[in-house]
Amino acid sequence: MAKMTLEELRKLRSSQKSEMERRDVEGKEIHIIVGMGTCGIAAGAKMALDSFLDTIKSNNLTDVVVKQTGCMGLCYSEPTVEVKVPGMPDIIYGNVDAAVAKEIVEKHIMHKKMVENHIQDKPAGDIIK
Ligand code: FES
Repeated sequence: MAKMTLEELRKLRSSQKSEMERRDVEGKEIHIIVGMGTCGIAAGAKMALDSFLDTIKSNNLTDVVVKQTGCMGLCYSEPTVEVKVPGMPDIIYGNVDAAVAKEIVEKHIMHKKMVENHIQDKPAGDIIK
């Protein structure tokens, strides 16, 4: 393996730093929580996670944090993702591939419109109007 130059190391540190900032919860109100249990990973949760991070980055969204969690108990609809946006009910989406992850960011996060055909559950949706 070739050695990295100091400049390459600085670029790598810079890119990793911005990646870490996107995962920093502090002060961020919008949360995307990706189920990374065994069945989620087997169904492609990592590709969904990468798509969330890429779409957030390409749209310069700074108030969104992407987190990982374990099994959500929804094997049949993996990959599953919970989305929390202030003023909207929390939503659990299912069958979230890379394209759906992009759609969730562009519709739900940016335009406050749910991606109806992928909603699995709306915990407390009945008490938040
Ligand atoms: S491992 Fe599939 S729902 Fe938990």
